[in-house]
Amino acid sequence: MTSEILIRGGLLVTDQSRRCGDLLCRDGVIAAIGQELDVSPAASVIDASGCFVVPGGIDPHTHMELPMMGTVVADDFASGTAAAAAGGTTTILDFVGPDRGQSPLDALASWRAKAAKAVIDYGFHMTVSWWGDGFAEAMPALVGQGVSSFKFFLAYKGGLMLSDEAILQAFERCRALGALPQMHAENGEIVAYLQRRLKAQGVTGPKGHAASRPPMCEGEATERAIAMAEAVGVPLYVVHVSAAEAAQAIKRGRQRGVRVFGETLPGFLGIDDRVYDDPDFDIAAGHVMSPPYRPAGHQEALWAAIADGTLSVTGTDHCCFTRAQKRLGLDDYTRIPNGCGGVGDRLNILWHLGVAAGCLSPESFVALTSGNAARLFNLWPRKGSLAIGADADIAIIDPARSITISARTQHQNTDFSVWEGRRLAGSVVHTIAGGRHLWADGDLRTAPGAGRYLPRQPFGPAFVTPAHATGP
Ligand code: URP
Ligand code: ZN
Ligand code: ZN
Repeated sequence: MTSEILIRGGLLVTDQSRRCGDLLCRDGVIAAIGQELDVSPAASVIDASGCFVVPGGIDPHTHMELPMMGTVVADDFASGTAAAAAGGTTTILDFVGPDRGQSPLDALASWRAKAAKAVIDYGFHMTVSWWGDGFAEAMPALVGQGVSSFKFFLAYKGGLMLSDEAILQAFERCRALGALPQMHAENGEIVAYLQRRLKAQGVTGPKGHAASRPPMCEGEATERAIAMAEAVGVPLYVVHVSAAEAAQAIKRGRQRGVRVFGETLPGFLGIDDRVYDDPDFDIAAGHVMSPPYRPAGHQEALWAAIADGTLSVTGTDHCCFTRAQKRLGLDDYTRIPNGCGGVGDRLNILWHLGVAAGCLSPESFVALTSGNAARLFNLWPRKGSLAIGADADIAIIDPARSITISARTQHQNTDFSVWEGRRLAGSVVHTIAGGRHLWADGDLRTAPGAGRYLPRQPFGPAFVTPAHATGP
């Protein structure tokens, strides 16, 4: 049976265009765009007058159901993707996390099993959590199964951190396979040193988290990661950029022709490190993530880096824990599970901080929330566009519908929100994913298992030489 949804009379915005009109979704794809489109009597009709109709959000950085620091992330693929849908996100790219020594192919199989309950489409990056022949030999098969991006860590000494030598070897492997390397850029040696020093000084609370990971740690590691990518001749994607120093390193790299791309998070654009001064442990610990929120001033630097194209993608690094989970580090901040939520808030926050505040055009908003991620991670134009034949993944934003974020009303599976009490000008009022109307004016109608796995081809646009580049 044919299913049709007509979105009537909205402003249709992509990262390159805007026009008023109707958009017809039929059987999961965008079937027509025009004026006063005819539909069958059985079609459902959404009145989008006064609203912005944009490609569904792509969150290229989530962690659902991830075992971490003695616990497991609070959102699984069903709850986390439902929360995403309630905020206009219709695709996530999650990180497969092999245990140390575990076959990455086995880890991918286990992530695919966990993700089978997702309500929206999903793909995977692979965390290179250890390095050796076994990992290197598995990489072609991983790429063959649609995992064409690999994340490396310069932080977490004694855990995920790899040596520069290992990273250079792995980057070479990525280059040969057309896979995009990603970097968590913090200098793990300095962090470990500062943690020891703070411990000797008796610092045990969440403030120590930020103190042990200063902005220069991120700046140095970003600079080094770019230099390694440059030496190998492979593009690089720097995840969760939080510090001015890191953005400057990316800008310098791009200026000398390195194909380096920066991702930032809404939280780094709108929250500063005063959160760690809160006398309530739950609030300070609720903001513990790596890298940490930065002192006032860095947020403006990141906005400037968005404006000049240094930072071209936003994700959320959704990795949420409950207050009870964060209390694992009540006596020692190094034991607080690292991570914050946000998969359901990204579009609403960026609309508010960006478009409503006059800092972003609607087109730039689309570039930052879906278009550039689709291009870099080889999902374009199936995702991140409003092209005929593209997946019917749509978010409808009503600029007049204010909301106030609260942990009590959010759909993320946690009792904490870094955005608690924020009143936003405008919000996502409808989400359609794969032609299914999942979020309808406050009504969340998700079906676990409806999401599809998105295998991604290697040699995405980031590998195209700059002269012919079509990507961001
Ligand atoms: O603190 C964070 N960011 N947790 C998630 C893991 C990561 O490094 O992205
Ligand atoms: Zn990271
Ligand atoms: Zn992450």
